[in-house]
Amino acid sequence: MISHNPLIVNTKSWNISKKKICVIYYSWTERTALVAESIAEVVKADLVRIKEIKIRKGVTGVLSGAFQAIFHRKSDVIHPSVDISNYDLIILGAPVWCGNIPPAINGFLSKTKFSNKAIVLLITMALWGGKRVLKALDRKRNVIEFFIVKTGRKSRKELIDEGKKIGRRISSLITGLSL
Ligand SMILES: Cc1cc2nc3c(=O)[nH]c(=O)nc-3n(C[C@H](O)[C@H](O)[C@H](O)COP(=O)(O)O)c2cc1C
Repeated sequence: MISHNPLIVNTKSWNISKKKICVIYYSWTERTALVAESIAEVVKADLVRIKEIKIRKGVTGVLSGAFQAIFHRKSDVIHPSVDISNYDLIILGAPVWCGNIPPAINGFLSKTKFSNKAIVLLITMALWGGKRVLKALDRKRNVIEFFIVKTGRKSRKELIDEGKKIGRRISSLITGLSL
């Protein structure tokens, strides 16, 4: 787990008083889901899953996903009925696909206005590319913290524990800095 965003200089953004939090995530093979769901449990957040309209399956799903990610394509997603303006903090979870943002997240972001909403990024990957995705997602958004989780050889339990650890860290940052 890597934390503290070197791109972030304004820690005052953590001055979150109402602490209404939403975890929004995309997950194809359930790893991001396990981490994101346990973060949501710890920080008592609402949970929203981004789903692609076209079901992604098998080798074709991997190959088309790789192509779409490399060329920054968007896939059509069932737009979650979530009103971002209701929340003080958004935790956005995404896996790395070929060192890039997966098409479902591109699809979601293209239709979602974050204004200056505080965002914590959760990025999962097997091995490589988390920082590239962080930079791409950080652009023009108020990302106040990030966590990159290597999921490769981790069991379900380890991923859930990792999520709990991240959740506790987020909770401590919120209460610590909003005093
Ligand atoms: C199409 C595709 C491309 C991927 N590209 C990368 C990559 O560039 N670097 C990496 O470390 N992991 C890569 N992975 C692995 C996933 O990022 C990693 O397993 C992630 O935790 C999966 O999240 P999920 O289970 O929520 O879908 C890729 C997976 C897929 C399906």
